[in-house]
Amino acid sequence: MSTENIAWHSTKITQKDRLQRLNKRPCIIWFTGLSASGKSTIANAVEQQLFERGHMTYLLDGDNLRHGLSQDLGFSEEDRIENIRRVGEVSKLFVDAGIMVLSAFISPFKADRQIARNLVNNGDFIEVFVDTPLKICEQRDPKGLYKKARSGNITHFTGIDSPYEIPENPDIHVCGYDQSIIDSSLTVIQFLKENNYI
Ligand code: ADX
Repeated sequence: MSTENIAWHSTKITQKDRLQRLNKRPCIIWFTGLSASGKSTIANAVEQQLFERGHMTYLLDGDNLRHGLSQDLGFSEEDRIENIRRVGEVSKLFVDAGIMVLSAFISPFKADRQIARNLVNNGDFIEVFVDTPLKICEQRDPKGLYKKARSGNITHFTGIDSPYEIPENPDIHVCGYDQSIIDSSLTVIQFLKENNYI
């Protein structure tokens, strides 16, 4: 649907006003990686540390969002594009509200991650690649989905019969298997400190 006949209403209170009150620099911390790579676990650990440091945070998680906002979507290429478009827009609203948002989605396509990045100001989008080989994700298989995908009970499964495009130049590259969760989360925290987000 086009937005031709829909006007944009500017609000009196702007992001700048909110940030002056909060004295923080919000951003999107975007975790991408295969299913069972450790995205949600690491994002949770990062969120806990940010929260303890006094930051307002919110975690958007693929599995959870698909119970609500994206419950009408499946896993075809078209549906994943739409899922990531919605998540990008919601993440943008959180940044506008002055909240640090952690978004953990497979987000398998480079172009869609780039679209999400382009929604916010330069530097407000931090891509974290949770790098865990397919073989290890498949061994973990916490929800038994890889098994179902291998036996053909689920189709379009990322890494099996649907592609995952590896980020070429992520802002942060964490190893999702031979590094502890706490070390991976500290890598993210260190980046945020060094680049004056926190
Ligand atoms: S994304 O591709 O659109 O970014 P998203 O992160 O929201 O995916 O959801 C991924 C989660 O949905 C996985 O962790 C897994 O639990 C579940 N899932 C169910 N079917 C599939 C599938 N065909 N491919 C990938 N994940 C699936």
